Amino acid sequence: MSEIDTTLARKLLSMAAEARTMAYAPYSGFHVGAALLFENGETVCGCNVENASYGLSMCAERGAMIAAVAKGLKDPVAVAISGEGGSFCPPCGACRQFLAEFNPDMSVILEDDGEIKFYTIKELLPVSFSLEGVACGEKKE
Ligand code: THU
Repeated sequence: MSEIDTTLARKLLSMAAEARTMAYAPYSGFHVGAALLFENGETVCGCNVENASYGLSMCAERGAMIAAVAKGLKDPVAVAISGEGGSFCPPCGACRQFLAEFNPDMSVILEDDGEIKFYTIKELLPVSFSLEGVACGEKKE
């Protein structure tokens, strides 16, 4: 998978925005969509799904990654995230750790007032948790 150019980043952001329209967020009213890109070019989207028992709510990014693993996709190269109303929406700490498990070097694509911003998970979550002697992202089942 080559570098993520602006055209691809925009496409992923627009897929994330479309997934956001499917969000189930009656409690927070904050709708989030995520689009994951994998090494083979496939994409998997997710949206946040809340619950009356608030702590059970699931973020868009983790929902997308869980769906991807169920399809046999475990090598994400990028994630684009679209927040409520298209707002700047960096991934929460739990999602950073969750995605770091699969690829700490993956790109995180965010839109900020029409401007595309690129980060990496590693940059957003330095010194992430890993089991003793096993570098995060290198754990094999
Ligand atoms: N949310 C996400 O989907 N992703 C994040 O990275 C942060 C927060 C959701 C969870 C909850 O449904 C709503 O946004 C408000 O916190």
